Amino acid sequence: MGESLNISPDHADDPSRRDFIHIAAIAAAGGGVVMTAWPFIDQMNPAEDTLALASIEFDFSKVVAGQQAVVKWRGKPVFVRHRTPAEIAKAQADDQADMKDPQPDSARVKEGKSEWLVLIGVCTHLGCVPNFGAGEYGGWFCPCHGSVYDTSGRIRQGPAPLNLAVPDYEFLSDTKVKIG
Ligand code: FES
Repeated sequence: MGESLNISPDHADDPSRRDFIHIAAIAAAGGGVVMTAWPFIDQMNPAEDTLALASIEFDFSKVVAGQQAVVKWRGKPVFVRHRTPAEIAKAQADDQADMKDPQPDSARVKEGKSEWLVLIGVCTHLGCVPNFGAGEYGGWFCPCHGSVYDTSGRIRQGPAPLNLAVPDYEFLSDTKVKIG
C-alpha cells in the first residue's frame, strides 16, 4: 500500500534554507493529501499491523548532491540526503574513530549507493529534529541540547546516545526509494 510523494520545494528563496528541499506536499494515490487524511485515519483507529505495513515511495531525482529532502513517514521526518564525494569520504575516514554508537559508514547505506543516506530525522536524545549541514562534522546539529552528528548520521558529540536511525527502505529504481 504505497503512496507516492509530490516534491514541492519551498523556502527556495530563503538563503538560510537553500541547501535542502522540504517536502511540503504528500499526495496519496487517489490525489488526496496525507496531511488531511491522517487525522481521519487516526480516528478510524486502524489495526497496528495495518500501520506497520504503511510505506511510502519517494522519487529523489530532484535531490542533487549536497542536498537533503525531508519526507514525512509514519508521522516522523525522514532525511534523504544526497551526499557529496567529500561527505562520503569524511564519513568513511572516521569509521575507526572513537564513537558512542560505533558503526561503519558502509553499514548505514545500501551497497553501491553510498551517496544516499536515508535516516529517521529524530534526535536520539529527546526527539528534536536536527539541522542539516550544521555542527562540527558537517552532518546535523540538534539545537535542543547540542548533539552533533556526522555525515553518516552517527552521534559524535553531545548527549544523544545513539546514531540517527536507519529505517527499512529499498531502492525501487535509480531514482526511487521505498521507505517502510
Ligand atoms: S533532543 Fe537533540 S540534543 Fe537533546
